[in-house]
Amino acid sequence: MSDLFPRLMSPLEIGTLRLRNRIVMLPHGTSMVQAGAPTDDDIAYYVRRAKDGPGLMVTGAAVTSLDSTRAGRKLIENFNGEALPALARRAQAVKAQGAAIIGQVVHLGREAIGMETAHPLLAPSAIRSPRDLQAPREMDGADIRRVVRDFAISARNLEQTGHDGVEIHGAHGYLVGQFLSPATNHRRDEWGGDPERRLRFLVEVIDAIREACGATFLLGLRLSAEEEIADGMELADTRRLVEALAAGHPVDYLSVTLGTRGSYVKDATQPVAPAARAASMLREASGLTTIVGQRITSPSVGEQILSGGQADAIGFARAFVADEQWVAKARSDKPALIRPCIGLNQDCRAFAPHLHCAVNPRAGREQDLAYEDAGSSKRPRRVAVIGGGPAGLEAARTAALRGHQVTLHEASGRVGGQFQYAAAVPYRAELIRIVDHLRDEVRRLGVAVELGRAIRRVSDLAGPVDALIVASGAVPRPLEPRLQHPTARVWLDILRDGVPEPHGRAQALVQDDGTGFWWTYGVVNALAEAGWKVTVATPSTAIAAAIPMESIAPLLVRLGQHGTTYRLLTVTSAVTDDGAQLTDITSGEDELVPFELVVVQTGRQSTAVLRGEHSGIETHWIGDCVAPRRVSNAIADGRRVAVAL
Ligand SMILES: Cc1cc2nc3c(=O)[nH]c(=O)nc-3n(C[C@H](O)[C@H](O)[C@H](O)COP(=O)(O)O)c2cc1C
Ligand code: SF4
Repeated sequence: MSDLFPRLMSPLEIGTLRLRNRIVMLPHGTSMVQAGAPTDDDIAYYVRRAKDGPGLMVTGAAVTSLDSTRAGRKLIENFNGEALPALARRAQAVKAQGAAIIGQVVHLGREAIGMETAHPLLAPSAIRSPRDLQAPREMDGADIRRVVRDFAISARNLEQTGHDGVEIHGAHGYLVGQFLSPATNHRRDEWGGDPERRLRFLVEVIDAIREACGATFLLGLRLSAEEEIADGMELADTRRLVEALAAGHPVDYLSVTLGTRGSYVKDATQPVAPAARAASMLREASGLTTIVGQRITSPSVGEQILSGGQADAIGFARAFVADEQWVAKARSDKPALIRPCIGLNQDCRAFAPHLHCAVNPRAGREQDLAYEDAGSSKRPRRVAVIGGGPAGLEAARTAALRGHQVTLHEASGRVGGQFQYAAAVPYRAELIRIVDHLRDEVRRLGVAVELGRAIRRVSDLAGPVDALIVASGAVPRPLEPRLQHPTARVWLDILRDGVPEPHGRAQALVQDDGTGFWWTYGVVNALAEAGWKVTVATPSTAIAAAIPMESIAPLLVRLGQHGTTYRLLTVTSAVTDDGAQLTDITSGEDELVPFELVVVQTGRQSTAVLRGEHSGIETHWIGDCVAPRRVSNAIADGRRVAVAL
């Protein structure tokens, strides 16, 4: 039993089900799916997290109907008989680890995720989703009755494949949500027109599932308490909705979240536990068992919500992506050992081609022993790691964990490398948690950390070593001569040295290199918040194209509030005393625009020390010193190389 988190670790009864703790793994599709069925990799992902883990796992949304399938068949197809044996294997494997398992079911309606539409889109009204090109077809009565039946068939399939229950995905603006919401349901028949009639589709789905499944089979409902869209459902609407449900068609639990597609996986710039207040209100109004999740990353926040009576159970999705042993570490009162999710959404939401994680190289690679850090080396050796950024830290940690005697050399006065500057951007301070965590792990595992002395050749090392891991990182490329001018800076200068005081007309130009990533937009954000009026120029056809979908909207709103403007298909071809010469790359036309400050995204170049040295010592290069990439690549390189030592 945990002293620190007694409520979180206490059992919970939902219907006839007794959960071993109040921790729920929230639904998150892994895309480790083939032809609509979970693969062995997907099953391994669940089993790893079920072991010594949450009381309940709700599986990522599975589609109920053929006309909600994707062309790539990367969503689980609950209606498809051929997917059922794999669903049964997954349910059995999870339950064997002591967790309950509930399958979430969805019809996507008008949302054509990735425009992968295999069929015409359906919706309560023919209103196009702002996220997609294609408009849906308005469902007629026969469509509605058929989809209601599909939900019931999917639920029965879950029951027959050994699941403990089904969760209706009524959140995030998919079909059930589209019927509930005044923004998307403009019908004037029995399924629309007023809140009661907008509720009818959901009620029919609930009733059909109850009729199709046994009395002990649990039925949960996920709702977005606030849709966060114009004319969408607000908390007062959802409150009335759950009161009506509780009175006439109660479900066994509510799972409360906020937002619709594009906004429901809140990034690190958003506050912690934003749905707790809404959950508390809906719980009180309905009297239903309530799960709340969303941007809850630490057990202490979960414990607080439970002891404040705001919810009955706490849901986590990305916390489980980032650390499969999250529950075991919390239960043994060692929360500091938990590898923190840093809320970037870069890798878990990119689905390239399936779920990965920036901080946990094993996520999505559960069966790949190359990333498995458990177990000790058969040949413990003296290992020197050169460079204390994320790659070097992860390599040092893994090598020490495996029994090697490790020294980590960092030329500067502190570890973290360039990632420290990524965390220097407004609202992104939380990123530093992964550096702090790795630093603490390295210390805990007895790595000798030597700061403040650069290692440029093997003879710079204090003593003999058996293996070298070089993680010397990357540096910004310098300004091209035609851009050099007293008003011009390299992007990293701003993050490292701080924002210059606005002066004159306070007009700043930030030239992106077309990558559209945080290295540029973080600088823009910092300048804008410091009072500069920023113009962003990019050779790309899009703004911030590499920033995950969930982060773009809040970022652009922040920038918009400070008057930031954009020039697409534009490069800065020179900086002079009269200003920046902006060139339209399609027409070739130049325009001279005065700016007090010009900041250029010059990109990064590797600084791989020891490359030419033939020391005879086994040497590996990892992370940005091989090629400048993302933090996920750095940490994965560090893990893989240290596992192989
Ligand atoms: C990779 C990924 C896939 C997701 N898929 C689903 C899903 O299938 N159904 C759903 O209701 N929510 C889905 N979500 C949202 C999560 O359930 C959760 O609400 C969200 O991630 C916020 O919780 P967190 O901060 O604990 O991650 C997904 C989230 C992630 C990161
Ligand atoms: S990829 Fe990033 S946001 Fe997603 S789980 Fe990992 S750390 Fe969290």
